[in-house]
Parts: sequence; C-alpha cells; structure tokens
Amino acid sequence: MSIVKSNALFDGSSHSGRGQFPGLSDITGADGSYLKLADGNQISDFWLGHFASLLGHNYPDIKQALQTQLDSGVFDQIGVPLELEHGLANLLRQLTGFNGVRFTTSGSVSTDYAIRIAQTVTGRAIVLKGRGGWHGGNLLSIKGVRYPEGTAVDLYEQPQITSHLAEQIVLFDYNDEQQLADLFHRYGSQIAGMIVEPVVGNCGMYPVSEAFIRTARRLCDHSGALLIADEIVTGFRRYPGLYLQYHFDVKPDIAVIGKAFGGGLPIAALLSDVELMKQAKHAQCFFEGGTYSAHPLCLAGAHAFCRLCLGDLGDPIFQRIHQQLQLTWALIDRHLGKWESYIHIPQSRDRQFPIISIRLVKPTATRVPDRVLDHWDAQLVDAPTRDQQGRQFMLERGVLPWQLLGCISPSHSASQIEELVIGCRDFIECFAMQNLAGTRP
Ligand SMILES: Cc1ncc(COP(=O)(O)O)c(C=O)c1O
Repeated sequence: MSIVKSNALFDGSSHSGRGQFPGLSDITGADGSYLKLADGNQISDFWLGHFASLLGHNYPDIKQALQTQLDSGVFDQIGVPLELEHGLANLLRQLTGFNGVRFTTSGSVSTDYAIRIAQTVTGRAIVLKGRGGWHGGNLLSIKGVRYPEGTAVDLYEQPQITSHLAEQIVLFDYNDEQQLADLFHRYGSQIAGMIVEPVVGNCGMYPVSEAFIRTARRLCDHSGALLIADEIVTGFRRYPGLYLQYHFDVKPDIAVIGKAFGGGLPIAALLSDVELMKQAKHAQCFFEGGTYSAHPLCLAGAHAFCRLCLGDLGDPIFQRIHQQLQLTWALIDRHLGKWESYIHIPQSRDRQFPIISIRLVKPTATRVPDRVLDHWDAQLVDAPTRDQQGRQFMLERGVLPWQLLGCISPSHSASQIEELVIGCRDFIECFAMQNLAGTRP
C-alpha cells in the first residue's frame, strides 16, 4: 500500500515533535505497545503519542467506553453540561482532593488559565517559571524555552513578543533553592505565582528535588503567591493522582492535568479550590475551556481511565508500572553501567518516574549533580546525534524510542523493555567508539 503524502501539510506534520518520525506515516494499526506498519512489520512504541496513551493503544476499557458513547448517539460536541462531565469532575475530586475542576482542550490552554488566575486573584504580575521548562505554546509560558532542538535562541527573543509581556515571567533554575529564595527576596510582593513541573520534561525528565519543592511551597506561602503544579506529564502516570501530592505530600494551589488522564483522548483540566476560581471570575478573569472542551468522547475516555485509577475495574496499573520501572533500572544498570562517562540519565538517582531519557554528554561538559541542565545545550550534550542517528538506529531494530529510552507503559512486555535497553546500549557502544576515535556516527 503506498501512502499519499501532501506538500500542503506545513512542515510535514502538525507538531514539530512529530517531524522526527518522517518514515512512520504508514501506520495501519496500533495495539497495546505496538504500532503496525503497512509492510506487515510492527514497532515497539515507547513514544506513545506524546506520552498521552499511558495504557498503550487500543486499550479494551477505553475502547469499550468510546464504543458505548458512540452507540448512545451522543458522540459529537453537544455543548451542554453532560452527566458524564459531572461524573468525571467527581472522580477527579476523589482522586486529587481538589473541589474545583474545569475541563479544557489542551495543556497549553490550562496553563494559560492557571497563570491568569494567579495574576488575577493576587493582583500581581510576575510569575516564576523554570528555565527550559515547557508549559505549552501560550505567550506567558514560552519564555526560557529553546526550541526547536539545538536552537540557541529563547522563544522570547523573537521580535514579536513585547518586552512588557516578557517582564512578567521571571526564570529560575530548578533545584537551586538559594536562587529561588533570592528571587522571592527581590520580587516578593510582586510575585503572583510560581509554575513548576515535578519532573521537568523538556529538560529530559529531570526530577525536581524534595528540598526545592518544599522551599517553593514555603516561599509561596510566605509571600502570598500561588504554587501552580504543571502535572500534564506527571499526573496519573506514576500514581493515581498528582505526583506532587503522592511523591512529596505537597499540595499545590492550582494543578493542571492532561495527557495520561484522558486515556489517549484530547482532554485537559485545571484543578483548584472552587473558591479560588470564583474569586478569579469575580475579578474578571475571563476564561473558557474552548468549543471542544468536555467533548463527549474525551469525557468517556477520561472517565474510563479515572475509574481504572480508582480500581473500579480491578486493573492494577500503577503497581505494574512500579514493577516495570524496577525491571528497566535493573537492565539499565546491567547494560549501560559501563558507558557511564558518555551518558547522563537525569533520573539515575531518583528512579521513580516511568519516562526515562538519555543524554549523550560531550567529553568537555562539566557535570553538576542535581542541576537541571537545558538538554538542548550544544556545549554539554549531543542531542542531534541521539535524536537523529539514535532514533534511526533503534527504528531499524523495530523500536520507537524517545530520547533513546522513553515512556514505559503497563502494556510493554519485559522482552520489549529489554530490547529497548539493549538497542540503546548498542547505539551508545557505536557512538562511544566513534567518539573515542574523534568522529560522530
Ligand atoms: C509539562 C507540559 N505542560 C504543558 C504542555 C502542553 O500541553 P498540550 O500539548 O496539551 O497543549 C505539555 C505538552 O507537552 C507539557 O509537556
């Protein structure tokens, strides 16, 4: 079967992250953690749709929920509050403890809303944001992001972004408590809030330290700023709720969730105390979740996923993820330990989060333990080699990785995880040998 491609598709896809997979247009099916290709081959998928399909593709309970919704006849947008929407809000309240929920169509819309709520209710303008962190493509969130890969320019250095807006976002370096304290000292009463990810995705899934999170919570409380947790990637992935609450027992004032909790369907949400949302509305913080917010099919997918989280359907997702993480790290230790001086795995100490990336570290780079480094920094890491040659190398072995490893799902088998780690080892061996010889593969 030949694939008809269109030159009209700008940049070859609708997301620059997907431009990395030009050869994978001929997917004819997806099941569990496998993508099926037109030529009859299949690929082990560790990318899982931007990490959205946590359970793997075509998961029976999600499929059944969608089928039931289709059969009910209520599957296109209706635009009135549905029982399912109320039901999902109640499930999220049970799973997170937040009594206020608003559904949106994407993480970017939710973080935009979160930042504006913080600014509105505090009457302050400045929001602290981690350097290198990605909170979506909205104007207030893109400062401190160097994109696409390897670009030396911060998105805020683009001429169309006004300095007035740029001044509202002040950058911090993750895991530097002293710097954070200095920022609060300097801007204290002007700080509306601080947005954090418990594991910094765009820096290569870098875990944030407990000391940093606790300092952030304390400084926010002290200055009257709101702590916003961006849990788009971390929420409902390692635990059946917010990572910040389960892992650190820290409650944010606002949390945004997306990806996994939708069961692979496009839905996101903002969670907070309902009083805070009322206060923001009263102060004219105008916000809508969007035409397609709380779409019936998305509600059905998310509802099925959240019921699985509650254990209603008897599926021990997070227990399995925990076991798989242990297996993955045992394999990493066994097969990659030898190449320690060529690679850096941001999670090598914490080992708790089921999306793992590898950096190919330049021999000249200075390593600072626990500092979250911008993983596109060409002085330190060789991201293009990893992401282009590395991905190609793995794809030829039937594995679709993310940053050489990727997202572990309950649907992956032990042998798929082993193939992933061994593929990665073989690539690093090849990379390291050539690196020793002074050339790149
Ligand atoms: C941590 C984080 N926040 C926000 C977003 C934006 O979410 P969306 O792509 O649904 O707009 C992303 C997307 O990758 C993300 O990783």
